[in-house]
Amino acid sequence: MIKMENVMYKYKDNTVALNNINFDLDKGNIIGLIGSNGAGKTTLILNCVGLLKPNKGNITFNKKELKYNKKFLLNLRNHVGVVFQDPDRQIFYSKVYDDIAFGPRNLGLNESEVKKRVDYALKMVNAEKFKDKPVHFLSHGQKKRVAIAGVLAMDNDVIFFDEPTAGLDPDITEKMIALLKRISNEGKKLVISSHDMDLIYNLCDYSYVLNEGEIIGSDKTNKIFLKEDLINKAKLKQPWLVRLHKNLNIPLFKSEKALYSFFNQRSESFFS
Ligand SMILES: Nc1ncnc2c1ncn2[C@@H]1O[C@H](COP(=O)(O)OP(=O)(O)OP(=O)(O)O)[C@@H](O)[C@H]1O
Ligand SMILES: [Mg+2]
Repeated sequence: MIKMENVMYKYKDNTVALNNINFDLDKGNIIGLIGSNGAGKTTLILNCVGLLKPNKGNITFNKKELKYNKKFLLNLRNHVGVVFQDPDRQIFYSKVYDDIAFGPRNLGLNESEVKKRVDYALKMVNAEKFKDKPVHFLSHGQKKRVAIAGVLAMDNDVIFFDEPTAGLDPDITEKMIALLKRISNEGKKLVISSHDMDLIYNLCDYSYVLNEGEIIGSDKTNKIFLKEDLINKAKLKQPWLVRLHKNLNIPLFKSEKALYSFFNQRSESFFS
């Protein structure tokens, strides 16, 4: 899979956005990339998928060093997808169907295979209702789903999601979390960047903490969030379930549901 070793990336204005980055996608199935604004999350993703080229260090895909020629990048695109932070950066066509069909058509698939891919992707993101709407009439959350459908239609093995829940309301955020779980259950590897700690805690099995362009910690998600000093150093906050565990001295629950079911069972035995 994708691996970064000692990567440094400097923008043209000399901002060093990544420094000495070691990042390995084999560490988990859903990998979290957490960091505050400007920490370097987007830059790291763009380097991983070959859209930016590091100034130092190396990046490998299936043990082969990334090359920046058309052929190599085209092959990389067949395996690795990105859902950008801003859906407007991703959607090019005015019709939803055509936009989602763009990738599969580019792969040279015939129209019936393209339709199969588009229908599958529309269903996954629950966007069948607005498939005939012009893209410019869609809300931000709907556009985000179209952007994801476009990536799903490519049937990549790995998908990077840059801030998948930014700008979404609570209901759509919940649906997005369910969608990310569904995509993972289909056997795809996900990398999710976010400063929403509850989202990462809920979804990811392994996480990297980025701060000012450097990875200051990485571990299994349930372990990394217990390291309060590390989370504070990254200017982030521990997930609410971790704070409850620490401040009320109750077990550490993975989800809100697990917390309620634990206490419901206890109160049943208490009253009976
Ligand atoms: N095109 C650019 N030119 C110069 N500096 C840039 C450019 N893009 C990003 N940077 C700088 O690189 C650093 C990392 O930015 P990046 O966008 O990767 O952070 P981020 O963690 O994705 O932040 P956010 O949570 O706000 O999306 C920041 O200091 C930012 O100002
Ligand atoms: Mg970003």
